Amino acid sequence: MRSVFPLGDNETESDGHAMNESTRLHLGAAYYPEHWPEARWPEDLRLMREAHMTVVRMGEFAWSTMEPEPGAVRLDWLDRAVDLAAKAGLVAVLGTPTAAPPAWLSTPEVLAVDDKGRPVQFGNRCHYCVHSPELHAATRRIVGAMAERFGPNPDVVGWQIDNEFNRVCYCDRCRAEFQRFLKRKFGTLDDLNAHWSTAYWSQTYSDWKQIPIPIGGHNPGLMLEFKRFVTASYRAFQKLQIDLLRPKLRPGVWITHNFMKWFDGYDHYAMSEDLDLASWDWYVGSGHHDYLNDGAAHDLVRGFKQRNFWIMETQPGSVNWRDVNNALNRGEARVMAWHAVAHGADAIAYWQWRSALGGQEQYHGTLVDQSGRPRPFYDEAKELGDDFAKVRDLLAGSTIHCDTALLHSYDSCWSIRGQKHHKEFDYIWHLLGYYRPVAARNVGVDIVSAEAPVDGYALVVAPALVLLSEERAARLAGFVKGGGHLVLTVRTGMKDDYNALLPARQPGGLTEAAGVEVEECYALRNPVPVAGPWLKGTSTTWAERLRVLDTGQTEILVRFGACNGWLDDQPAITVHPYGKGRVYYVGACLDAAAQQILIDHIVADAGVEPVPATPDGIEARKRTATDGREIFIVINHEREEKQVTLPWAARDHLTDRDVQGTLSLRPYGVAVLTKADGKG
Ligand code: GLA
Ligand code: ZN
Repeated sequence: MRSVFPLGDNETESDGHAMNESTRLHLGAAYYPEHWPEARWPEDLRLMREAHMTVVRMGEFAWSTMEPEPGAVRLDWLDRAVDLAAKAGLVAVLGTPTAAPPAWLSTPEVLAVDDKGRPVQFGNRCHYCVHSPELHAATRRIVGAMAERFGPNPDVVGWQIDNEFNRVCYCDRCRAEFQRFLKRKFGTLDDLNAHWSTAYWSQTYSDWKQIPIPIGGHNPGLMLEFKRFVTASYRAFQKLQIDLLRPKLRPGVWITHNFMKWFDGYDHYAMSEDLDLASWDWYVGSGHHDYLNDGAAHDLVRGFKQRNFWIMETQPGSVNWRDVNNALNRGEARVMAWHAVAHGADAIAYWQWRSALGGQEQYHGTLVDQSGRPRPFYDEAKELGDDFAKVRDLLAGSTIHCDTALLHSYDSCWSIRGQKHHKEFDYIWHLLGYYRPVAARNVGVDIVSAEAPVDGYALVVAPALVLLSEERAARLAGFVKGGGHLVLTVRTGMKDDYNALLPARQPGGLTEAAGVEVEECYALRNPVPVAGPWLKGTSTTWAERLRVLDTGQTEILVRFGACNGWLDDQPAITVHPYGKGRVYYVGACLDAAAQQILIDHIVADAGVEPVPATPDGIEARKRTATDGREIFIVINHEREEKQVTLPWAARDHLTDRDVQGTLSLRPYGVAVLTKADGKG
């Protein structure tokens, strides 16, 4: 479909879908045409196009409009909306509407049950039981009809299944499904009882039907398997929809789900296996964005498929669901968008385009207000759209390559969150304690599954990898033997795949490689001093007393100072050569300043180079174009003008100017650079 609206100066005339739409840089918004009279749609789409938007996301939650009564499927309106969008020069991403089963479908057979045994109230979202056969039948009907209708449509470039899967259902059917899941996994109750040590407190099961869904604290083995069951449940429901869509889609049309950051309700790596593209919904909520934390969330989502991702939703201004729903500062959303792109996002889609007059989200930030006129924020989005248009061709197909990997494991997270041992010890908090100092130095990080192959990285950091199967240990030991540098931290290698303690001291199967073992671990009420030749600081929350095994080769870098008697003068951080590589064991949770010193030491030791070093508050990241050209995105995350000294002459593609030596960045300013001696 040809655009009927004029294209911006920097945009090439194209019918959009001719390019690979998942790797082309997009700007867009979630639009719910069903909220508005059809006569208004062209004006909304014109305003989107005027803001240089290229994609519109529609359809999710529209089930009651798509199927007002059982079997009466009406998709003509959506067809017309997709068509109008295409005429305005926008491609469409369609959501399946299953997060919002309509009233007629919200029967006792479909409604989820909460942990108190009550059916969930209709009128919000995700109120279904994921195992309901009635839900599945209705899903087949509506998603099947959408697939038939829009699968061949050249203006639909991607699909989102459901929306932010999140609920846990406690109904009898889910419980029976859980029992079947366990039977498939363990085969016999003897095996299950052994792995879960059920003789403890007389928990021994003699019939599968006796096994409950855990509510609150429970047997650690059972709690872990329940998380795996929830993963399998949503994965199956997602697959049901993928299987309806896939055969009807044109080649190159992708399927995604919009995930939520660090949400730990299920294993996102498993969920992502069936998807083509990972995407996530990025909300600051209250306060302001913190690029060192948010960068980790982008890198996490990039790791789901180990490829670029989409920001499927982000806030234009404010949200409506926090205690104080403050607006982002002027310019802040723009740097957030560039920050996401710098970490591998190929699209930024605002949620939502226009404030609906009714419904629960009346007060949420939008680009167009209740009167139908653009809000002040609209101009910021437009500026972003203009910038995107300038570098769309440059960035198309570019990817991110890092020398450092940070391992992330849902099972270790679940295990620790189930038994924190110290209320302030959180798995993600701990992981971010390793991410932030690396990111602060502009060192690119891939956050990848603890199951992912790591050969090829120079440095691998494995924070609190409490569940250490033999395979994980062997893979990491092999990596070090081959010359890699591995950082192990507190709580590593304590448990097996069933959440049972290993009959060995930490770090379990990595003890030989680490050259140390953990004699005891301590939850700390007060910070404990630590010191070594080049580091002095404190350990908070947690400390592990290390015993050197390989006395000839293990180097003690840091020791604990005087505290509880048990830790006094004991090794806290060690390094051990193993094969061609080295293993650090960090038995302390250092304060931020000491952690930065440690990380700087480790990164230098591993020979990892930063993308040019920059002053605090300035971020520099690199994407590599398909022809190998390096593209640097330099972002001023602060509200004052800043200067960066560049090690090379460059071209700034946003201003179309050459930069020599010093790059000046205005408050919340951004530059997209290629080296002047490059082909650019
Ligand atoms: C979630 C949902 C959206 C919307 C936003 C509001 O992320 O996916 O539909 O409700 O929150 O912030
Ligand atoms: Zn259920």
